[in-house]
Amino acid sequence: MKIDVLLGLQWGDEGKGKVVDVLTPEYDIICRFQGGPNAGHTLEFCGQKFVLRSVPSGIFQGGKINIIGNGVVLDPALFKAEIESLEASGQVLTDRLKISKKAHLILPTHRLLDAANESSKGDKKIGTTGKGIGPTYTDKISRNGLRVGDILCNFSEKYAQAVSRHRDLLNGKYSQNDIQLLEKEWFEGIEFIKRFELIDSEQYINNAINSGKKVLAEGAQGTMLDIDFGSYPYVTSSNTVCAGACTGLGVAPRHIGDVYGIFKAYCTRVGSGPFPTELFDNVGDALRNGGHEFGSVTGRPRRCGWIDLVALRYAIMLNGVTQLIIMKSDVMDNFESIKACTAYKIDGKETRDFPFDIENTKIEPVYVDLQGWQRDLSQINSENQFPSAFAAYLNFLEKELNVPIKIVSVGPDRAQTIIKTVISDK
Ligand code: GDP
Ligand code: IMO
Ligand code: MG
Repeated sequence: MKIDVLLGLQWGDEGKGKVVDVLTPEYDIICRFQGGPNAGHTLEFCGQKFVLRSVPSGIFQGGKINIIGNGVVLDPALFKAEIESLEASGQVLTDRLKISKKAHLILPTHRLLDAANESSKGDKKIGTTGKGIGPTYTDKISRNGLRVGDILCNFSEKYAQAVSRHRDLLNGKYSQNDIQLLEKEWFEGIEFIKRFELIDSEQYINNAINSGKKVLAEGAQGTMLDIDFGSYPYVTSSNTVCAGACTGLGVAPRHIGDVYGIFKAYCTRVGSGPFPTELFDNVGDALRNGGHEFGSVTGRPRRCGWIDLVALRYAIMLNGVTQLIIMKSDVMDNFESIKACTAYKIDGKETRDFPFDIENTKIEPVYVDLQGWQRDLSQINSENQFPSAFAAYLNFLEKELNVPIKIVSVGPDRAQTIIKTVISDK
């Protein structure tokens, strides 16, 4: 049996949570493989709305096992708050949610270091979510991190050592009092984590695969935020690409099956960093307001622009995407025409390849104009009802991207999802 991977192809917030929830009935186990509470994955069904940060999005359907993998960074205080709010809505999670002993812990001082790093960058700041993601992964790579499994043995000693290092790095920027204020909730979170089964998730997942169980890996962030291939340094601190599922769960590349690449019919980005197709006009505003493009974690307005097929082709290549999932076309229901960027013009020359530097290079997007469908997609429940201009738009994307579109999402609700059966002509 193989493990399928679902991941974002743009700058995050593509709608991963919604689609993982939709696909959950097909799987036995759902695992997060990287990132942490910088993620905000939104699910809507039966008139309810949930935003998940660290808990995988397979938690709501059919009593499936959900795993927080070794590649994830976990903030105990935020985790406790997330679980308590899920439990308040009637979810019983304790037996179904397991946590890798090798997942790294986000300490209160990591959050302070995140803030200090950002303020030291001035106008070059990354615009992080402020959740301590960068400093936690830095400690992991520099072999100074604390892991979930560490809470089971001599933890206070290991914690004190880590905090003393961080205090030196913070160089007096925050007082002991600032740290103590965060520590109370954090230690309550540490005790809370012990309610869950802490596992050797790599063993658990490989045993499951070998015994014929179906596993889905859920990505966080998006390919253009990947630490190696994203718009560095305006990226997150983990490998968001498919290879991250191998290291973040301990599964071998030969066990990877389908790779679902998810993207919006337009493009968004939160935080700083280059964005070649960004719109600063009323079309950008229409996308932001129509798509409710405000961060699910920070509430920040998301920057909006036309779909960027140069970046998408690059992301598809890096991930070995086998099936595409298109989200939020309904946001453009009233548009008379739609643009898609098919190439970049750099120094007068057109390229379809994603360049090394998109920050300091002047990039002129080359657009094609496509006809809008000017119909309400949100009530459609079968591909046979697609307006012809919308079908033509999907066909155009499949030709440009050379991968079939398998799922079309036409609204935030679980029910507003069309699984395509007919693969259009290529
Ligand atoms: P994620 O981080 O990739 O899980 O995505 P987010 O949850 O941060 O952002 C996606 C937003 O779009 C959420 O508010 C969803 O409820 C919403 N959404 C998802 N799919 C659709 C869709 O097809 N149409 C519309 N209009 N909204 C959608
Ligand atoms: P989901 O999983 C969108 C962005 C931040 C910032 C950069 C680095 O919901 O798609 P970090 O806190 O990770 O150090 O911030 O990455 N970012 C996201 N943008 N969606 C996300 O997650 C993001 N997680 C981080 O805005 O630009
Ligand atoms: Mg999100």
